[in-house]
Amino acid sequence: MVASSPLSPEKIKDGLTTKWLGRTIHFHHTVESTNLLAIKLAQQGAPQGVVVLADQQLSGRGRGRRSWHSPAGVGIYCSIVLRPKTAPEKAQLITLITGVSIVKAVALRTGLSPRVKWPNDVLINGKKVAGILLEGRASGARLEYSVIGFGINVNNGLADLPEDIGVNASSLFMELNKTVDRNALAIEIFLQLERLYHRFQREDFAVILDQWRRNSSTLGQRVRIWQKDKATEGIALDLTEGGGLIVRLEGGKQVIIHAGDVEYLRVL
Ligand code: BTN
Repeated sequence: MVASSPLSPEKIKDGLTTKWLGRTIHFHHTVESTNLLAIKLAQQGAPQGVVVLADQQLSGRGRGRRSWHSPAGVGIYCSIVLRPKTAPEKAQLITLITGVSIVKAVALRTGLSPRVKWPNDVLINGKKVAGILLEGRASGARLEYSVIGFGINVNNGLADLPEDIGVNASSLFMELNKTVDRNALAIEIFLQLERLYHRFQREDFAVILDQWRRNSSTLGQRVRIWQKDKATEGIALDLTEGGGLIVRLEGGKQVIIHAGDVEYLRVL
């Protein structure tokens, strides 16, 4: 583990310039999962913008029932309660704006050049440094609440990364050779996310999609997308209005993928 300053809700609150995001922070040294806790709070009526932040997770949840390795003292494990007024079909855009917010904040705080990978990863030099997990409940045509959770490998050394060799992972520290202030990074992510979320609520979807496109490592790539045991191969062309991925199959037919695990086959 690399020595770095402790995660501090007080320092985050002191530096925050947001209107509502992160104004209440439930900080825990150790939790099972910040997403689980945020879901509980949302079900109990917590307002939009409430944050659950932890220094360590014992059962961090990833997409597709995977886990998120969440060792103490090095990462950011954070979940935010949202109450979007948008239709459930647009919920995936919350994942996309969170990815763009992390990319912008990391670039601003470190000078690194992260990219979003559809649908929920942030990569640096092709390696995963952050993952995003959207959970929530819809009732009829509206979203009752959404919880957006993200985990970032900030000051992890090699020994603090997941052992799963299937995941090509890295950390900001490993890419930069310098520790990164987790409090300052969290403050910047909250600010970027609040701004983009306002656009989302104003239904400025074109702006959101454009920002994602500009920060994407996925578009133009030859991809293999896994949905359970089914694989689809083709070229990732663009996003749909709802954040789905448009893929051109060999032979020219275009399909829309709404969820899946993307493997890059080669850079074009
Ligand atoms: C993925 O890449 O599969 C998504 C990982 C999401 C991990 C974060 S860490 C904070 C929040 N709480 C969780 O239990 N999971 C998310």
